[in-house]
Amino acid sequence: MKRLITALDTSDLRQAKAWAKALAPHVGALKLGLEFFLAHGRDGYAAMDGVPIFLDLKLHDIPNTVAGAVRSILPLQPAMLTVHASGGPDMVAAAKDAASRVPNPPLILAVTVLTSLNQAGLQAIGLKRSVEEQVTLLAEMAISRGADGLVCSPLEVPVLRKTLGRSVKLVVPGIRPPGADRGDQARTMTPWEAVQAGADWIVVGRPITASADPAAAASAIAMEIG
Ligand code: C5P
Repeated sequence: MKRLITALDTSDLRQAKAWAKALAPHVGALKLGLEFFLAHGRDGYAAMDGVPIFLDLKLHDIPNTVAGAVRSILPLQPAMLTVHASGGPDMVAAAKDAASRVPNPPLILAVTVLTSLNQAGLQAIGLKRSVEEQVTLLAEMAISRGADGLVCSPLEVPVLRKTLGRSVKLVVPGIRPPGADRGDQARTMTPWEAVQAGADWIVVGRPITASADPAAAASAIAMEIG
């Protein structure tokens, strides 16, 4: 699967369809998140047909509820599905167990620390560890309880590769091509740097979707990461 994933963060179905059509040749998957899915649900999802979907719903609830949510999503057959690692070990295990009951289950990816959070942001929610320590702790826990991979910032990719090895899938947002606007992302790298660091997939949203020519922007990033 190609390494570029584009985030279609919009509530405009026509816009999402146009992006999907233009970007499909350049991406390994399209990422649909809360903005799109809460606006258009299953019908909107179905309209994206033909491209693997990374369904980024960042589930975070008690284990029983998350397992039920995963079961509700399985008929859509996403390639990847996210849960928050901070939901805890039993929640991650419940998500994986629920997903494992179908052929070709989605990869269960655990979100460690949101790439919009920096050290001050962690402190504001009462976490005293460094970002890297917090990410590593959550990552080891989530993988030990069955997660197939992790969503992490590019800055943590080297330490996670070292700690967890090659088989863990690392999906990495917080990507900004040289000179691009960082927006609300705090921990960023360029596409090439992130892949060099060991990312399996990079997730790029606004640098592609907000550009005048999204297909050209995606193609340029795809070329850059080879
Ligand atoms: O537009 P931008 O490239 O910042 O989009 C990044 C995408 O990755 C967004 O859809 C965001 O929800 C998602 N994401 C993230 N940080 C995480 C997990 C997911 O930015 N830790």
